[in-house]
Amino acid sequence: MNAVLVASNRGPVSFTLSEDGALTMRRGGGGLVSGLSGVVKEMEVLWVCAALSDGDRSAVRLAPGGRLDHAGYDTGPLRMLDIPPSTFHRAYNAVANSTLWFVNHLLYNTPTAPQFDTRFRREWESYQSYNAAFALALAEEAGPGARVMVQDYHLTLAPSMLRGERPDVRISHFSHTPWAPPEYFSLLPDEVAVEVLCGILGADHAGFLTARWAAAFMDCCEALLGANVDRGARTVTHEGRTTRIGVHGLGVDGDALWARAVEPDVESHMAALRQEVGDSKLIVRIDRTELSKNIVRGLAAYREFLAAHPEWHGKVVHLAFAYPSRHDLPEYREYTAAVQRCAKEIEDEYATEDWDPLILNVNDDYPRSLAAYRLADVLLVNPIRDGMNLVAKEGPILSPRSALVLSREAGAAAELGADALLVNPYDVCGTAEAIHEALVMPEEERLERGKRLRAAATALPPGLWFAEQLAALEPAP
Ligand code: G6P
Repeated sequence: MNAVLVASNRGPVSFTLSEDGALTMRRGGGGLVSGLSGVVKEMEVLWVCAALSDGDRSAVRLAPGGRLDHAGYDTGPLRMLDIPPSTFHRAYNAVANSTLWFVNHLLYNTPTAPQFDTRFRREWESYQSYNAAFALALAEEAGPGARVMVQDYHLTLAPSMLRGERPDVRISHFSHTPWAPPEYFSLLPDEVAVEVLCGILGADHAGFLTARWAAAFMDCCEALLGANVDRGARTVTHEGRTTRIGVHGLGVDGDALWARAVEPDVESHMAALRQEVGDSKLIVRIDRTELSKNIVRGLAAYREFLAAHPEWHGKVVHLAFAYPSRHDLPEYREYTAAVQRCAKEIEDEYATEDWDPLILNVNDDYPRSLAAYRLADVLLVNPIRDGMNLVAKEGPILSPRSALVLSREAGAAAELGADALLVNPYDVCGTAEAIHEALVMPEEERLERGKRLRAAATALPPGLWFAEQLAALEPAP
């Protein structure tokens, strides 16, 4: 039986199935996975995740009890859940990514969306079943008094469901996203909003990336549940139980990142990029093609900048890396098209025979991203809203002299705001001016700010971040 367990939708590995039926294993992607993988590998932690694809399902079906490590894979203790594809699809795409993600990132165009109809009620039932499958697996696997760390908006109901099955275990929930203020959170149907909040309050400890998101969660508990909130002590008491609220600002393991970024594949990408852009100044952005990342307004800001500052024509290049994400959702496919359209317009308007003002790359290429970070003069991170945004933290580690233009709505602004150039993500002119300011920032100031940004970015690396939450689950002495 296991003493420490982690549960998340996406696991540390994924499988692809080739035509001849062979399975290939790859490392899973995304912020949560990169944060947890290194840590969990070092410790004897059982990771419970969902099968996301046909490849994953084929691998699980050959593994005794879904334990991939028992089927000979070098994954560390790992149980993957084979949730029926239609249930998974409704829970992951329709509820988690289209509803809870949109609510917490304030992404709805409210005159037309959301509409919580009968179909949504069916999707919600799938979300409940998906959470129940996790709760059941965790209840089966947890040893007496085990500590169970549930991750993210996919699994908001699992803590209270698990508590129902196993009152002896200690449970934490961690939100890797922002949290919406009550007036936006209550777009959700009342019974759904209550279930989400009570689901998380089933945990002993509910963690957030910043004080702002923790405060928004407490506000929702007070306004929608009538819970008793103690903001000073950071506790929420509801129906006789108290949940402690924690703030754990995930940072980056600077040494590990730097070690990866000086490997030969990165160096050769650096040489190739340098060749491509010559001695132009580089404005870099690196994101998933994600609505909350605000890529379209970022490009619009670059266009404004080029219009307002013709002195930079021929001397600057914007490298925009926007990797594919969540392409099962039509909004994301349309967004990718909008990004490409906007990039094309900039090229049509400004490119000359010997100057390409913008290089947009929509293919996932990790070493190339690391190379771009290292070459950046300016790093642009302008999300509409973001739980933390690790790009803003990785940049200063890899490029000691790059200036950071950062949205004030990113969680990272709480820690990096003093040394970044903060922008309102909706203000395209303001962002354009910040880009200009970043480009002309004197060398000494860049280095000074860079030093402080790096210290803040590495203050709580994943190992410590994990240890803090594990410690928060120790029974009181
Ligand atoms: C965000 C979420 C993570 C998730 C990542 C990638 O960072 O907070 O939980 O891993 O997005 O999203 P995906 O849908 O590809 O798993």
